[in-house]
Amino acid sequence: TRQWRGVIEEYRDRLPVTESTPVVTLLEGGTPLVPAQVLSERTGCEVFLKVEGANPTGSFKDRGMTMAITRAKEEGAKAVICASTGNTSASATAYAVRAGMVSAVLVPQGKIALGKMAQALVHGARILQVDGNFDDCLTLARGLADNYPVALVNSVNPVRIEGQKTAAFEIVDALGDAPDLHLLPVGNAGNITAYWRGYREYAADGIATRTPRMWGFQAWGSAPIVRGEPVKDPQTIATAIRIGNPASWALAEQARDESGGMIEAVTDRQILSAYRFLASREGVFVEPASAASVAGLLHAAERGLVDPGQRIVCTVTGNGLKDPDWAVAGAPQPTVVPVDADAAAAHLGLR
Ligand code: F0G
Repeated sequence: TRQWRGVIEEYRDRLPVTESTPVVTLLEGGTPLVPAQVLSERTGCEVFLKVEGANPTGSFKDRGMTMAITRAKEEGAKAVICASTGNTSASATAYAVRAGMVSAVLVPQGKIALGKMAQALVHGARILQVDGNFDDCLTLARGLADNYPVALVNSVNPVRIEGQKTAAFEIVDALGDAPDLHLLPVGNAGNITAYWRGYREYAADGIATRTPRMWGFQAWGSAPIVRGEPVKDPQTIATAIRIGNPASWALAEQARDESGGMIEAVTDRQILSAYRFLASREGVFVEPASAASVAGLLHAAERGLVDPGQRIVCTVTGNGLKDPDWAVAGAPQPTVVPVDADAAAAHLGLR
């Protein structure tokens, strides 16, 4: 039998590990690159979705976390800490379980999706809800890691970015070359940094003939990079990217500028519309923040910014089941029927 071995074993020669490194993995990565039929028709392009919600804890964070927890284990850490809008905390705690470590997580009070909180709880995290936003949580986590025996596993930890760059490798491996355009949501800006690193590395080594333009999308009320200044009180329904002062700000700008790309804002309305579109037209259920990439594509296409004939990849970063509130909100109540085929058929319009 041959199964996917997780990103460290699959890309070992491109990651900072040695033969004696104790690999901590849930066999993350190897996620589907799904052709998006309706998006392709709408844009006149060949559009693919990199479905990162198919990772073991339901988001792309697992790619970086296998590296971060592996290295923390190698260095003898007993406990790890992260600030999180939810997905990082779920991933860190699951991998900490595998490594036999304690996981402490700092989350903004009342602003994390229920599914993500459930994951942190069931994996046994020590959860502190902070009276502040993600940026406050990150400041606190950094302070704790500087002064106490606990390893920081946010994407300011450089090995997280190394692990996450494997998504770009997988895309090139699947398509045979880099796409023309790569779109993704931007929050703390680690992921756009990681993809750009991965694409550049493959191009430098001649595995890809080119690099894509990188288009990043922040939520309108949480768009510090677009505005050019930190946002004190970031707002958006896409809680995963409700971030006002991204840690990898400069690296995200570098990815944008070196690739000839852009970083723009999409409104919550555009995000929710793309979220419903993906689920109801493409069959792919993602969390709201993940739909920012597709919202950005649709918005750019409407403005004539997307030349037809391109090969385009949109990363959809997290699974829709993490934050089902927005799927249920406003949806009609399912009809109640008796155990009667004629009655059921009538309600379904079959007769
Ligand atoms: N999409 C999802 C689903 C996320 O959880 C995040 C970040 C992003 C996009 C943005 O990625 O930060 O690398 O620019 N979530 C972090 C967390 C902040 O704590 O889970 P980024």
